[in-house]
Amino acid sequence: MSLHMTVDVARNAGESLTSQIQRFIKREIADGVLHPGTRLPSSRRLADDLDVSRSVVVEAYEQLVAEGYLEAATGSGTRVVGRPGHRRAAGPALLDEGPGGRRATAPVQWDLRTGGDNVPDFPRREWLLCYQRVLGPGGARARAWNGYPPPAGEAVLRAELAGYLGRVRGVRTRAERVLVVSGFAQALALLCTALARTEGVRELALEDPGHPGQRRFVEEAGVRAVPVPVDEEGLDVDALAASGVRAVLVTPGHQFPTGAVLSARRRDALARWARERDGWVIEDDYGSGLWYDRGTAPPALQRLLPERVLYAGTVSKTLSPALRLGWLAAPERLFGPLLRARERQDLGSDAFSQLALAELLGSGLFDRHLRRLRERARERRAALDEAVRRHLPGARVLGPATGLHAYVRLSRYVSEERLVAEALRSSVLVRGGSAYRFGTGRPEAPAVVVGHAHLPRDGVAEAVRVLGAAARVARRVPRG
Ligand SMILES: Cc1ncc(COP(=O)(O)O)c(C=O)c1O
Repeated sequence: MSLHMTVDVARNAGESLTSQIQRFIKREIADGVLHPGTRLPSSRRLADDLDVSRSVVVEAYEQLVAEGYLEAATGSGTRVVGRPGHRRAAGPALLDEGPGGRRATAPVQWDLRTGGDNVPDFPRREWLLCYQRVLGPGGARARAWNGYPPPAGEAVLRAELAGYLGRVRGVRTRAERVLVVSGFAQALALLCTALARTEGVRELALEDPGHPGQRRFVEEAGVRAVPVPVDEEGLDVDALAASGVRAVLVTPGHQFPTGAVLSARRRDALARWARERDGWVIEDDYGSGLWYDRGTAPPALQRLLPERVLYAGTVSKTLSPALRLGWLAAPERLFGPLLRARERQDLGSDAFSQLALAELLGSGLFDRHLRRLRERARERRAALDEAVRRHLPGARVLGPATGLHAYVRLSRYVSEERLVAEALRSSVLVRGGSAYRFGTGRPEAPAVVVGHAHLPRDGVAEAVRVLGAAARVARRVPRG
């Protein structure tokens, strides 16, 4: 099959070949050059054309399938689905080529992807109230509207955050060591810059599986990403030590995406590694405050080793990613370099939102919102556990009940790729576990990553019922 596919892959671009191919295809779809239903060249053909290894193209296609841009139909290759963004804006989208070749329409009814706008409703009333309190007549915190915000963040917010993080997550810090940032994304960029400039760090260990966006981000910042495996106890600290790197990014409170919580044994081992290696640990506590399992949440890792852990948090899961607000609690040695990196990058985060967040925290409205959010997520997770037991024999939901998503390990007799494609045919959009792997680790059981907290309770049950039906279609015949 011939097709105009002038992907201009650059080998020394600081961006992986897979990512370049994905970006190219997404852009062609967005520009309307690649139309819904268009069949793409086989991975072998495209790999030959571009003179890259076939696995590079396979990975690019798989990721685009998981994201809903492409669909892989057995026997008929890989086709363009459409534009996920457009589907949402325009309502139901064309998704499926029916069995008889007739085009059938199938709206994405249940979008199980994590992140993006798949977070529960923003507490509008509370936010407006706080905004009004700080900006309205007589607002006590009204210094913000003439002048740029302080680069480290509004003093009142830094003080509220230091208090909140100590109380809820056991973080050992004070206002002067808290830097307000535009979400974890900016925290990571600042950390890459500051660690490289002041500590000579050129490599960062990342959990595998982990967040593909973060990996790209790190690589784009000129830092080499080194995958380190994860198991049910969280990061494999022996493998980290063997990798020889000096800095690592971890999600100890709720490993992304597997949901593992870093065990006490591994926490101690990681703290020992950091001391002995003169190493740095970036703690991405993205789901802080969202523990709803029995017992209490393990405190932040930072508590064990405040002089070596760069603690980062965000409102992207608890309020909204649209706010672009997050924080870093950094030891003295790195605080100055981080602040200087920030000063070079932009002129601070929106002061009005910072003041409103300070008010939300200080008034207790944030605590109240979190209680409701945890209750909602607890119910969804219970519905997920129950539906997985009913509809997905041989599958298991990993990790304690915390956060807005869960990792469902599937029976090894299920083809993950086919399940994801089948589910999409039945209006359920979900990502497979392989979308989060570096591809260099141990072979992993098939899995799906299920964002559940944004769905209605019966939506969780219904979506998993569809996954169960898709799993039956996607069964692999056991060998031997
Ligand atoms: C693992 C992880 N860390 C952090 C974040 C938040 O990033 P940001 O604060 O830049 O929105 C997310 C959001 O999806 C995430 O999945």
